[in-house]
Amino acid sequence: MQKIVVFTDTHMQPEVGAGKFDPDVQLEKGIAHVNEFNSDADLVIFCGDITDKGDIVSYRMLQNRLKDLDIPYKLLLGNHDNRENFLTVFDDAELDENGFVQQVIDMGAVRLILLDTLHGPPYDYPLSHMGKLCEKRLAWLDAQLASAGEKDCIVFMHHPPHDTGFVAMDTIKLIDGDPFYDHVKTHNNVSQIICGHVHRTISGHHKGVPFAVFKSTVGQMPMLFDTMDFHMEVNEPSSYGIIFADKDSVLVQTEDFELSDLKALQEKP
Ligand SMILES: [Fe+2]
Ligand SMILES: [Fe+2]
Repeated sequence: MQKIVVFTDTHMQPEVGAGKFDPDVQLEKGIAHVNEFNSDADLVIFCGDITDKGDIVSYRMLQNRLKDLDIPYKLLLGNHDNRENFLTVFDDAELDENGFVQQVIDMGAVRLILLDTLHGPPYDYPLSHMGKLCEKRLAWLDAQLASAGEKDCIVFMHHPPHDTGFVAMDTIKLIDGDPFYDHVKTHNNVSQIICGHVHRTISGHHKGVPFAVFKSTVGQMPMLFDTMDFHMEVNEPSSYGIIFADKDSVLVQTEDFELSDLKALQEKP
């Protein structure tokens, strides 16, 4: 059984507005919680929007904070990221043959496929807030699915490849959802899709493939499905995801780490 912790939408930035969560403080708390209570995890995956503005200062802040983490980690990019600045700081990041921040990790009976859905360069907003999987990235995905053998595949990607019920966020989902699902359905070996982007806990299935979305470590999406305000957020407690995966089995848990006083429970006489 593999155990994977998922953080998403850390939106690291040096300065935040009044009343907003400090991303570095939030991540510090989240990492401390993982180190204390889930240090047996095999891997931690950060599911994109790792910085807020894609600037080098923020990537360095993130790199610095990640030194606290006791478990190996992998980073995905989201629409708030900048691939060139990311690679300037994380210069040992694994890339696919076309220079996208994509990689495959085989772990026991499962294959983790980490996708790069960043729509740039050029970084042309608001278009670049939408997720993109170009022909090259889709071909790479297809090759990983085709060569998975008996392993079940779990796909990690920042942008959900389908609607999640929040009208504003649905306008900036992955724009290549149809070809993405064509590849997924052709190989029929994806047991779970994990996304970020929406800043909300959501699960279900699309075309029969299960998916889960996790909350951010900073502000969360309010449960106002019809708002077109992308920037609206509520200061709910943050969480990270915990995935247990084996052949024919995936469990998806969430830990509201700011509410969870596990230590007090452990120390209870
Ligand atoms: Fe985000
Ligand atoms: Fe995003």
